[in-house]
Amino acid sequence: MSDAKTKFMKKTPTSAKLWKQSAKLMPGGITANIKYYEPHPVFMKKAKGSRITDVDNNEYIDYCLCLGPLILGHGHPAVVEAIKKQLANSGTTMYGTPHELEIKMAKELNHLIPCAEMTRFANSGLEATMHALRIARAYTHRTKIAKFEGHYHGAHDYAAVSVNPPLDSAGPRNAPLAVSNSAGLPKFILDNTVVLPFNDAASTERIIEKNKEDLAAVIIEPVARGFLPPEKGFLKTLRTVTEENNIVLVFDEIMTGFRFGLGGAQKHFGVTPDLVALGKVVGGGLPIGVFAGKSEIMEHISPVGAKSVSDRVFHSGTFNGCPTILAAGLATLEVLKKPGAYKHIDWIADEVRKSMRDAFKDHRLNAQVIGQASMFQCLFTTDKVKDYRDVARADSKKRVNFDLELVNNGVYVRPGRTYYTSLAHTKADLQKTFEAVEAAAKATAKL
Ligand SMILES: Cc1ncc(COP(=O)(O)O)c(C=O)c1O
Repeated sequence: MSDAKTKFMKKTPTSAKLWKQSAKLMPGGITANIKYYEPHPVFMKKAKGSRITDVDNNEYIDYCLCLGPLILGHGHPAVVEAIKKQLANSGTTMYGTPHELEIKMAKELNHLIPCAEMTRFANSGLEATMHALRIARAYTHRTKIAKFEGHYHGAHDYAAVSVNPPLDSAGPRNAPLAVSNSAGLPKFILDNTVVLPFNDAASTERIIEKNKEDLAAVIIEPVARGFLPPEKGFLKTLRTVTEENNIVLVFDEIMTGFRFGLGGAQKHFGVTPDLVALGKVVGGGLPIGVFAGKSEIMEHISPVGAKSVSDRVFHSGTFNGCPTILAAGLATLEVLKKPGAYKHIDWIADEVRKSMRDAFKDHRLNAQVIGQASMFQCLFTTDKVKDYRDVARADSKKRVNFDLELVNNGVYVRPGRTYYTSLAHTKADLQKTFEAVEAAAKATAKL
């Protein structure tokens, strides 16, 4: 066992014990596969602001932030107050009927997000992308979906293709194969999914043109996994080729929405898709999914005046539009609108990025830090990184070691995944983070 793992086991014995119990009751001892990592996940018991505390009473500065949603940090007073007020004033958690907060949030999105003329609410990001793709099929009367290799759109069948395919079975770089990302995936999904190479505009155009008669939608994370940016002009090319061929362009902004400013990546890069999927931040730390877009497309869901069930896109959900969640989301947006909020969140990220770059240089580690706004990753390679294949070729062993050492030194991250910052992170947090980064780099240089 590596030094990092040995230290980790020593620091987190109660988590190890709980994980063993948990694994007898829940497959893998977790409720989402992303939550598992070796040697075992850390079990947390409380959190406040930028800090999270585990069951062994270790306190960490949290740069995982529930894998992104907690842009204001844990339990921001404005969010907690909004939830309490909503519960107290309404006397319930849910109505199961329309209510005014839905209108308020839809109006906010309409105002903030360029493509969001009409909106529907759901309970998770996966629902948002799944429904956006179904509407695209209904709207275009076509079947196939194109997605980019290495991009993640949630746990449903249509998105479980080529998310992290083994490179030896992924096909040519400029014509990737559709590779199953899950046992149990029907073959017809692979047959109806076209996989595109991110940041290769010419090949993307060629593949879309070749499949244009069958393609209902192209879905993309405008910034892959929240940290890999599109090359200059790439999103514009995609917009043009989809528009010319009447293919619905869906931006999955579940990561970038409200982390690339209030208008998301579409406003930041100046490219407006037809539909957008949102989640994470917009729920204020409670479960949510949102899809929105052009009225002409979104209206296909409306049951008003439908001639038959198959005449309209079916979208439903018992918990859709939960008022408690919308109150938390609206409160979050109000805090983000305050002058200086994004500046602080992004400044914290800039400082951490710089500390990592400095530490890698000092310890002669062949590594780089990629990402802007409040999301980033470090990759242990000095090669130019522009897509999933470049990421997959980086040294993941060193990366996981570095991340485990961060955890060992009081900085919580999900090993191997994107780091996030929040409004709650402080200068004092930065000081401790710099020390952890230095220690983690030093230990990783010994591998
Ligand atoms: C870009 C992207 N799309 C979709 C999803 C799925 O969202 P959820 O986990 O809420 O289903 C995620 C989750 O990490 C995501 O990052």
